[in-house]
Amino acid sequence: MGFMDDIRITGDPVLEAVCEPVERIDDDIRELADSMLATMYEADGCGLAAPQVGVLKRLVVIDVDWGHGDKNPFVLINPQIVEASEETRPYGEGCLSFPGVTVEIERPRHVVVQATDLNGDLLQYDAADSLLAVCLQHEIDHLDGRTLLDHLGPMGRMRVKQQVRKAIAEGAKPGDVSSPSERG
Ligand code: NI
Repeated sequence: MGFMDDIRITGDPVLEAVCEPVERIDDDIRELADSMLATMYEADGCGLAAPQVGVLKRLVVIDVDWGHGDKNPFVLINPQIVEASEETRPYGEGCLSFPGVTVEIERPRHVVVQATDLNGDLLQYDAADSLLAVCLQHEIDHLDGRTLLDHLGPMGRMRVKQQVRKAIAEGAKPGDVSSPSERG
């Protein structure tokens, strides 16, 4: 079946909403995490946030090893950035909600993130100068209603919106990017 049909595309107001914390890890949350991982793998992405499948909960899935042969899924519930470096670096980012585009975004090069996993354990992720460092920040942005567009000025936003419209008109699907990069 096609989970990818569930992915919300930029312009959908659900992508601009602030998500609610997950209060209890129950079967609904476990099923949501499972279906989000299936959707992410089907779309060949390295990260997916719950609002991207229309659910306004603070839950993201990430797998930055996918594509290198091994699956190493992370499920982050109520993730929080507890440390971010002042030093930034640019990275060409894709997003499953922005088919066909890659956007260079400048973000802190080092972050420390705390999140609960599906067992209810609090885990810490420490990442610098890596796809994981970028992906953590990109996915947590989604939980606060922020997308790639919020990192751009008016001209950049217009350009990216046009690129997405054109790519979709040409048949681009979530996970398609204009150049090699990660996809979240
Ligand atoms: Ni994204």
